[in-house]
Amino acid sequence: MLNDLKDNNRNWAKRIVSADADFFRRLERQQAPQYLWIGCSDSRVPANQIVGLDPGEMFVHRNVANLAPPQDANYLSVLQFAVDVLKVRHVLVVGHYGCGGIAAAVDGKRRGLIDHWLHPIREVCHEHHHELDAIPEERERLNRLCELNVMRQVRNVGSDVFVQDAWARGQPVSVHGWVYSLGNGLVTDLNVTVRRPEDLERLYGTPPHP
Ligand code: CO
Repeated sequence: MLNDLKDNNRNWAKRIVSADADFFRRLERQQAPQYLWIGCSDSRVPANQIVGLDPGEMFVHRNVANLAPPQDANYLSVLQFAVDVLKVRHVLVVGHYGCGGIAAAVDGKRRGLIDHWLHPIREVCHEHHHELDAIPEERERLNRLCELNVMRQVRNVGSDVFVQDAWARGQPVSVHGWVYSLGNGLVTDLNVTVRRPEDLERLYGTPPHP
């Protein structure tokens, strides 16, 4: 079963060891990634490959439509471990144009559980409906919603108590918002990076945490 994948795996491990004999033994002892990636589960958006990072260099969390919902225990556990234990320097929230999750959130069709998961996107849509309604072309409108969703998730991460506490104790953590293009493989920085509570206030009007 799945012999092609097992063969691929053996070849991959062999290739790495031939270039760096100690690679896996080193990683076995510890991981010290500088980055946490929060991205979409979409098979076309492979986190490490896009930014050219090896195993051990990036902590990765992926879900449908790259959400960081403040009540989601999975995301919160990943964020806390990444910030408190691994002490990552950068959190990358990476959306992508043409995201099926974003489209499904607002097409009005009933799908079941996923409708609940995608609910925060409908909130973003509602909040920005003036701007979105003014975009006549549907594809462009959805792509803008992809960007607005990333910005909202950056705000969620930056507002989270783990990040706020890290800032309060002087630990450097930046939260970035990027969008990836399936069509050309390139990421665009949305320039909504937050490094301190004041950045959140400037970008989103959220008052700094007490
Ligand atoms: Co997607």
